[in-house]
Amino acid sequence: MSESALQQSDVEQALADFNDPETGRSVVRTEQVPSIEVAADGVQVRLALTSWAGPIRQAVQADCIEHLRSRLPQGTSIEVEIVEHHRPAERVAPIGLAVKSVVAVGSGKGGVGKSTVAASLAYALQNSGAKVGLLDADVYGPSIPHIVGIKQKPAIADNRIQPVEKDGLSLMSMGFIIDEGAAVIWRGPMLDRSIKQMLGDTNWGELDYLIVDMPPGTGDVAITLSQSLPISGAVVVCTPQDVALLDAVKAIAMFHKVNIPMLGVVENMSYFLCPDNGKRYDIFGSGGAREKAIELGVPFLGEVPIDIAIRERGDAGETSANLSDEETSRYFQTIAAQMVHSIVKQRVDQPSMSSLPVL
Ligand SMILES: Nc1ncnc2c1ncn2[C@@H]1O[C@H](COP(=O)(O)OP(=O)(O)OP(=O)(O)O)[C@@H](O)[C@H]1O
Ligand SMILES: [Mg+2]
Repeated sequence: MSESALQQSDVEQALADFNDPETGRSVVRTEQVPSIEVAADGVQVRLALTSWAGPIRQAVQADCIEHLRSRLPQGTSIEVEIVEHHRPAERVAPIGLAVKSVVAVGSGKGGVGKSTVAASLAYALQNSGAKVGLLDADVYGPSIPHIVGIKQKPAIADNRIQPVEKDGLSLMSMGFIIDEGAAVIWRGPMLDRSIKQMLGDTNWGELDYLIVDMPPGTGDVAITLSQSLPISGAVVVCTPQDVALLDAVKAIAMFHKVNIPMLGVVENMSYFLCPDNGKRYDIFGSGGAREKAIELGVPFLGEVPIDIAIRERGDAGETSANLSDEETSRYFQTIAAQMVHSIVKQRVDQPSMSSLPVL
């Protein structure tokens, strides 16, 4: 085929086996190629992606260019422009939540930074254009209201709880409902019910992602979640010490037991970069989580160093600033993008995992 003879239909044919990351279906079949222009100086394609795919837009754009390069005559100049595509979230029966992906953020032990990572991940996804909800499933010790800096009673409308809105995120937490310091004794069934209520009785609207901040360790909440709705997968946060890694392995096993796919591991508090001399200190050792993840065949999503600013922002209710600071935003954007890649891959590998469990 000579370059001048290149037709629009050739480009369309070349794109026929290029899949949308969200659905895994051909972008041609799903009408996500609004225009193809073929001129003497090359090919220009517009590819429409949903806000769900925000964190991996550049990667998909690069893949698409590569895909066309390998199928079109050598030397053809190729441009791919990404534009918006809207695909509504399907409602999840029986709770009626309209969400594309639900991600649980857990850990084997407490205090490793789950809530910090969960909230920062929610902001990272939102910054890429996605509509994000954040559910604080830590009913014993809710910390989301504190770290995102909002405390207000949720409104009730049409018999449904309205999520609390902050920085464009939709939030729900026991911390909004119960007064601070109130003694709460949750027995198993109440814990189960309160989580199901926060999931199903909240008017979340339409979400690309619902991030669930899990309480440490316990499998009860994981069981409740897995029984309530299809979960895209879990992210396990750990610190690099050997003992913490053992806990992470336990958390991975716990998610596995309740059939929640593993999206990957995040190593938090990986190292300390001294602001005074720029030297790196591996306070808890470093790289252990990456090695452990490889050993277990689980994706490694990224690392976050110990950063005094991250702790200060958490205490001040300004976790959103983790994404406006160039340094810290890189860590969380990487984790968000790797996590979305992981969801895409997991769907391809285990399509049956996304089917709805029977209640
Ligand atoms: N990378 C980091 N650098 C500095 N401080 C951090 C980092 N990650 C978390 N922290 C701080 O560590 C403390 C514990 O973090 P966080 O509350 O997110 O942990 P958690 O795993 O959710 O805890 P819990 O098990 O109690 O729910 C907080 O004060 C938080 O600000
Ligand atoms: Mg927490």
